[in-house]
Amino acid sequence: MAKSSPKTVFLCNQCGNEFPKWHGQCPACNEWGTLSEFRPPKTRRKTNGAPARETKKLSSITNKKGRKRSSSGLSEVNRVLGGGLLPGSMILLGGQPGIGKSTLALQVIAGCGQSALYVSAEESDDQLALRAERLGVQTTGLHVSGENEILNVLEQVSVVQPALLVIDSIQTVYNEDLDSLPGSVGQLRNCGQQLLNACKQKGFTVIVIGHVTKEGTIAGPKMLEHMVDTVLYLEGDDRYDHRILRSVKNRFGATNEVGVFQMTSLGLEEVTNPSELFLAERTENTAGTAIFPSMEGSRPILVEVQALVSKANFGTPQRNANGVDTRRLAMLLAVLEKRLGKIMGMNDVFVNLVGGLKIQDPAADMAIISALASSNLDKPIANNTVLVGEVGLTGEVRSVAKIEQRLQEAVALGFKIAIIPKSNMKNVKSFKGLKIHDVKSVREAFQHIF
Ligand SMILES: Nc1ncnc2c1ncn2[C@@H]1O[C@H](COP(=O)(O)OP(=O)(O)OP(=O)(O)O)[C@@H](O)[C@H]1O
Ligand SMILES: [Mg+2]
Repeated sequence: MAKSSPKTVFLCNQCGNEFPKWHGQCPACNEWGTLSEFRPPKTRRKTNGAPARETKKLSSITNKKGRKRSSSGLSEVNRVLGGGLLPGSMILLGGQPGIGKSTLALQVIAGCGQSALYVSAEESDDQLALRAERLGVQTTGLHVSGENEILNVLEQVSVVQPALLVIDSIQTVYNEDLDSLPGSVGQLRNCGQQLLNACKQKGFTVIVIGHVTKEGTIAGPKMLEHMVDTVLYLEGDDRYDHRILRSVKNRFGATNEVGVFQMTSLGLEEVTNPSELFLAERTENTAGTAIFPSMEGSRPILVEVQALVSKANFGTPQRNANGVDTRRLAMLLAVLEKRLGKIMGMNDVFVNLVGGLKIQDPAADMAIISALASSNLDKPIANNTVLVGEVGLTGEVRSVAKIEQRLQEAVALGFKIAIIPKSNMKNVKSFKGLKIHDVKSVREAFQHIF
């Protein structure tokens, strides 16, 4: 049979499937415009079906102690990673341009105090040195390189033997054997795989920095996220200088864990008490604000929900939400109107989570609906009150997870009254100085609040 030359295939950057010809819509995942051309490398090794690596009995693996986590030097980062940097693991760090990804990577290198190699094709060596000087970090064990060919990078790894490798960014490294441009699906897939193999075999940790798309997800194939052990996002808002590091995937720790930082000229400073940060500029005795004890991973953070309900002067009333899902807001407005008789149809409604936080947790419903009612009635909610509970379509208040930790944080910050779902009451011990009202419905909650 004639030897076939490598053919061009088309890869979907959503689902990673490959197709012999181009389609406008991916036949596998039905996404539009996600297919791009990929030419496999010309040389392919024939394995003849022989296994490349031996199989082992799980019980015979004894060197688990060699995989001890090491501290990154930043306790907020350690928490998000699930205890520290794990040797042989690959971490993907994404975030908007200029949010502080390179800064964080450099601080982790300095903090972990181990030998490291920083591969940056985005910045020159002197820019890196300048940043290190500005941050005032110790960089004795750090080697830097401007190399961006993946096989050369891996050669440098064999020479330097670092405990930590940083690739800044994955979109700038490429494999010479492939015809496509750096940052294309084929290149990302190949370079990601090479890095993964190297880190698993040699036991070093890799932090791969990734660019994000307009929508805020990591640019490139979703499979990059499948490949790595941990996916972290550094988030922030232009209006504030605090940054939130969030784990969205972690094979060796809890997900949705957050670390909070403040960006200063000395780099990212850890915020040990985020509730204080988010409540710092709270307006007291004003209608339209409510405090919600949120759970971010395993950590409670108190946040202020602000609402403004005002008469719409012309056209369709506006519905504007910042940090809250607009569909959830629409549902809460419908509950207010239908179950509690507060006419919202003719009003503009604005909801904002102070501090640029984003919350998906339905436990925020009680705080949002109360802030809306407070603004509508122009009656403030007492300063020292926290509100938590999921609101159902009939106006009932449903139970939420981790109620004890939420209330504990409220007590620690001096709150005196808590409105919680009745069905959560059985899991709650009493807290000194906190008056708990357990409610079954929003109507009952409003009787306590207003
Ligand atoms: N002198 C300074 N004082 C305060 N903050 C600074 C200073 N210099 C830089 N910064 C902050 O650092 C940020 C840039 O950080 P960094 O280069 O780590 O971001 P990045 O996410 O790696 O960006 P890119 O996507 O361009 O690689 C700036 O947006 C700014 O907030
Ligand atoms: Mg950078």
